Amino acid sequence: MTVHFIGAGPGAADLITLRGRDLIAACPVCLYAGSLVPEALLSHCPEGARIVNTARLSLDDIMEEIAAAAAAGHDVARLHSGDLSVWSAMGEQLRRLREMGIAYDVTPGVPSFAAAAAELGAELTLPGVAQSVILTRTSGRATAMPEGETLANFARTGATLAIHLSVHVLDKVVEDLTPHYGADCPVAVVWRASWPDQRIVKATLSTLRTEVGEEMARTALILVGRALGAEDFGESRLYAADYDRRFRPVGAEPRFPETSS
Ligand SMILES: C[S@@+](CC[C@H](N)C(=O)[O-])C[C@H]1O[C@@H](n2cnc3c(N)ncnc32)[C@H](O)[C@@H]1O
Repeated sequence: MTVHFIGAGPGAADLITLRGRDLIAACPVCLYAGSLVPEALLSHCPEGARIVNTARLSLDDIMEEIAAAAAAGHDVARLHSGDLSVWSAMGEQLRRLREMGIAYDVTPGVPSFAAAAAELGAELTLPGVAQSVILTRTSGRATAMPEGETLANFARTGATLAIHLSVHVLDKVVEDLTPHYGADCPVAVVWRASWPDQRIVKATLSTLRTEVGEEMARTALILVGRALGAEDFGESRLYAADYDRRFRPVGAEPRFPETSS
């Protein structure tokens, strides 16, 4: 018996891996993490599957569900929104499973920052503008930020920021970032990226507040940085006609002659 942790993607029912879909279809038990996991994904469950929304359950309750499935020899599909590597609460479940001696594996999903960037048609790392993306959040009721992981500290790098779980404190986000990025820095808020009711606001740090409505108070991503909307950036050397590389040797004495024949 195995618990399959599956990244359920950002919202659109077809933004899940084929492996994730097939695992859902093969598991007689499906535990899914509340409203951020699209209900349409549950249609992949086999007929008669036990399907449980874990939003109202405690960690102990969830482990009881898994223990019951293990006792019956039933594999479990465990769905969390986006990808499991960030803010999924998977870590604590895996630790319990290791203590219980229950096998598990992990199938990645499309993270919400990638879905938001796709909806914006934006590359977050542009040559000469930004070469790093920082996935972060601000303190919440349930989770405090470790010392040092402040927006101001991240902003000092000038990297593109993908700020999660923070649209409800937009004023504070703008206040913390403006001294570092400048009031004219582009910013986008993508609410419910890839859902049918998705909304996008593109603004600058100085105009953002007036453009984001109260209805966008949850499930939104704030993307900030000069890479957003930039046109004045260099082309990557990778595709430059004169750039000699392993897969496209150039010149009389290419650097990787063995692959040029
Ligand atoms: C608990 S975290 C889950 C993150 C998820 N594991 C991921 O890979 O993106 C929830 C936060 O992720 C962001 N988020 C999740 N789905 C989103 C979506 N479809 N559109 C915009 N932001 C989303 C929001 O900032 C939301 O408050």
